[in-house]
Amino acid sequence: MSKHAIKETIDWLSEIGVDEIISPQPTCKFEKAPDGHLSVEPVTQKSAVDEKVKEIHQPEMDHIQTLDDLQEYMKRFDRCELKNTATNMVFSDGTPKATVMIIGEAPGADEDRLGKPFVGMSGKLLDKALLSVGLSREKNVYISNIIPWRPPGNRPPTQDEIDTCLPLIQKHIQLINPALILCVGSVAAKSLLASKLAISKLRGGVHLYQVGDKQIPLFATYHPAFLLRSPYRKKDVWSDLLMARQKLITLGLEG
Ligand code: URA
Repeated sequence: MSKHAIKETIDWLSEIGVDEIISPQPTCKFEKAPDGHLSVEPVTQKSAVDEKVKEIHQPEMDHIQTLDDLQEYMKRFDRCELKNTATNMVFSDGTPKATVMIIGEAPGADEDRLGKPFVGMSGKLLDKALLSVGLSREKNVYISNIIPWRPPGNRPPTQDEIDTCLPLIQKHIQLINPALILCVGSVAAKSLLASKLAISKLRGGVHLYQVGDKQIPLFATYHPAFLLRSPYRKKDVWSDLLMARQKLITLGLEG
């Protein structure tokens, strides 16, 4: 194959999202496994999700008491296929004593490479927006994602992947015990609020997120990657951040 043809092929593959080499040989995921079942898992019925999650995570998760325990558990966890294609697990960034916990969707290419959430272009925009209301990773913010492994080619995570990983972020929130949660983007907001509403409907007000017998105020706003494409929405994010800051002031936790 000529150099030009190789370059064209690579460009094409990366345009359609094939940007990870998993194995030197292609694998047909639809080939029959030796037991006659398709090697791709069937789509999980919603009614069976809770049972499935319990079966996957319990009782091991009950013993998690610290962030280190959770990180170790996630390193061992092998029921999410995204782990097989990710370079690094992206656990968190920021201070564990944070008043505000920010939750995004899933790592992108930069985060996957560096093993930290929101370190690419959208992360830089997020940091700028946070700073404008006195929030920063160094001082009072902790950041994680619904999904800790990068979906190949930055595709959106499937509902099955979200259901599988949701108990991990739920435990993460419980351990950080923030005064306030800020979901950036629709995947984070919909997943934590168990809602089908669009992010445009979920933002602009406060929700309550239940952890044990405590209710944590939860705000939702647009994802910074969306803001990069639609800068006119910055004013809405600004307004959501001001609302969150007002809540912190009411709780006596500003700054
Ligand atoms: N987008 C996310 O939702 N999370 C990250 O960590 C990076 C980009």
